[in-house]
Amino acid sequence: MRLVVLSRSRNLHSTRRLEEEARRLKVECLVVNPLRCQLKVSSTGPEVFVYGKKLEGVDVVLPRIGTSITEYGLLVVRHFECMGIPVVNDSDSILNSRNKFRALQTCAAKGLAMPFSVMSRSLSDIHAAYRMVGSFPMVMKLLQGAQGIGVMLGHDRSAVESVVSTLLSFDKDLILQEYVKESAGSDIRVLVVGGKVVAVMRRQAKSGEFRANVHRGGWGQNITQLPKRYEQLALAAAKAVGLEVAGVDLLESSTGPKLLEVNSSPGFQELEKATGINVAEKMIQMTMRKAAQAKKRRRR
Ligand SMILES: Nc1ncnc2c1ncn2[C@@H]1O[C@H](COP(=O)(O)OP(=O)(O)O)[C@@H](O)[C@H]1O
Ligand SMILES: [Mg+2]
Repeated sequence: MRLVVLSRSRNLHSTRRLEEEARRLKVECLVVNPLRCQLKVSSTGPEVFVYGKKLEGVDVVLPRIGTSITEYGLLVVRHFECMGIPVVNDSDSILNSRNKFRALQTCAAKGLAMPFSVMSRSLSDIHAAYRMVGSFPMVMKLLQGAQGIGVMLGHDRSAVESVVSTLLSFDKDLILQEYVKESAGSDIRVLVVGGKVVAVMRRQAKSGEFRANVHRGGWGQNITQLPKRYEQLALAAAKAVGLEVAGVDLLESSTGPKLLEVNSSPGFQELEKATGINVAEKMIQMTMRKAAQAKKRRRR
């Protein structure tokens, strides 16, 4: 079995861990930089070239596409799909999750719990947005941010309006969202792999910070017993956007779990550290199961 991990660098922790576990499980693993994938289409079908050489004999692809290369990365993932190669996660699910509002729309259609969130394109609509979201402070979020970047807190009208008007003037859309103050400075990261919860941690933000992201100085604590409602919400969110591997962020509100976002290429260094669970192994095993099933189907 030949696995391709699409990742910009073998030095990234999660990529290195995936390569390590694949080797241990005796899976041939190639790490390929999506930006070095040359995509060819013709009447004979789609082909991928890496450093000028045709990439052949691939059984399954595990994409780790960073937010900075979403557009090209998604075309690369789609190319493999068009070649009939199974991909974990597929390009539609990555697209669904990459835009935070698109993900919330999809999950709202399934009736999943989330903070009140509003998008509008005109500053004139901002007073209506205040009424929908509720009270200050409120959260302002860019659609494409990650690692806490692009997530801001607006304490009053003038703070919110100056950010909103600046961003709209640069044609940047943003979400106004209810601030779930009960869970200020912490959230729950649930890792879903193949329709199952494989690891969970509570992330705690560093002091003075409301964003619990590890990249913003947050750290993970093990949770031994995740309440059923949290598990169900995380699984439903991953399923709604179509992700087989998903890092789901939840808030602990006074009325239960609320969905924040669903990440398609979740890093898992802190998660492995906090829980002691071999996350990379579980991802490789699920990916190989998918490859084996696809092979069986092809033979039939
Ligand atoms: N509505 C909210 N209420 C309270 N805290 C929030 C809210 N939205 C985001 N946060 C905090 O900010 C962090 C980053 O937000 P998130 O939507 O997950 O964006 P990112 O893609 O940057 O991780 C969350 O992990 C959480 O700690
Ligand atoms: Mg997040």
